Amino acid sequence: MMEQMTASTDRLKIQKATRVIAITSGKGGVGKTNIAGALSLYFAGQGRKVMILDADLGLSNIDVLFGISPEFNIENVLAGEKRLSEIVVDGPGVANGAGRVRILPASSGSEGLANLSELHKMKILSALDEFDEDVDILIVDTGAGIAGNVTFFCEASQEIIVVVTPEPTSITDAYALIKVLSTNYGERKFRILVNMASGASDALETFRRISLVADRFLNISLDYVGFLTNDPLVRKAVRRQQSFLECFPAAQVSKDITAVGRALQNDPVNQIKGGVQFFLRRLFGGVAA
Ligand SMILES: Nc1ncnc2c1ncn2[C@@H]1O[C@H](COP(=O)(O)OP(=O)(O)OP(=O)(O)O)[C@@H](O)[C@H]1O
Ligand SMILES: [Mg+2]
Repeated sequence: MMEQMTASTDRLKIQKATRVIAITSGKGGVGKTNIAGALSLYFAGQGRKVMILDADLGLSNIDVLFGISPEFNIENVLAGEKRLSEIVVDGPGVANGAGRVRILPASSGSEGLANLSELHKMKILSALDEFDEDVDILIVDTGAGIAGNVTFFCEASQEIIVVVTPEPTSITDAYALIKVLSTNYGERKFRILVNMASGASDALETFRRISLVADRFLNISLDYVGFLTNDPLVRKAVRRQQSFLECFPAAQVSKDITAVGRALQNDPVNQIKGGVQFFLRRLFGGVAA
């Protein structure tokens, strides 16, 4: 399955490849955190060891979504007080016991982290490199927009899923983010996940709109990964501080995220890019960032 051996050229470390998937968006509030949570639970249900990195450092909330209150977070790591292994906490358990979700929490409301300095970025990457917990899939829940933290975490990930809703502002903001990531950071592959769609045709129309402009003006192709129905049960689950997939497994939106998870499982892209190790190579190996 994901058990792929990779040899990093400069470090000659042979290790299991972790699949690193960033969930991002142009506009805020489009459902990234809910999607990161539910997708993690889906993968864990498939027996995978999943970790969520809360990369919305200024205004994090994956812990709130899961109803947990971690004592420490990334801020303590950046301050040199803790290692990642000391801040990681258990997220929701998975019934069959095979998989699990672990969470690397961020601090909420810390202005200093909203715009990471280059030194802090380096610290995060080296902390991730030292961190040797066995993880099959790392889901990175980013903030929204084209700010430095968002592009940094997208660049660090092998795969980028851009969440977009059918609203015109969400579409234009997603396009702006894709434009920055492709022209300034050389990213070529983006997956589009349409959230809060009224149905399949609404979602496809949304995808068509964004993909037409990307194709024409950026000369990159976007991959459609699926859609989630606009479902009031998502908000209901949020109020219960649980993922909708746990709370309402039979809901349409849960079927939708399952289909998305399955599609991702059947289409692992770009394994060669190699997770966080790739990124360190880029930093220390002199490849242009
Ligand atoms: N498919 C859906 N149907 C209905 N409501 C949804 C759906 N997905 C998300 N929501 C609601 O949208 C709101 C925003 O969701 P969420 O916090 O996951 O977005 P976000 O993109 O992570 O936001 P931010 O940019 O602030 O991090 C929440 O109230 C959530 O319940
Ligand atoms: Mg969020």
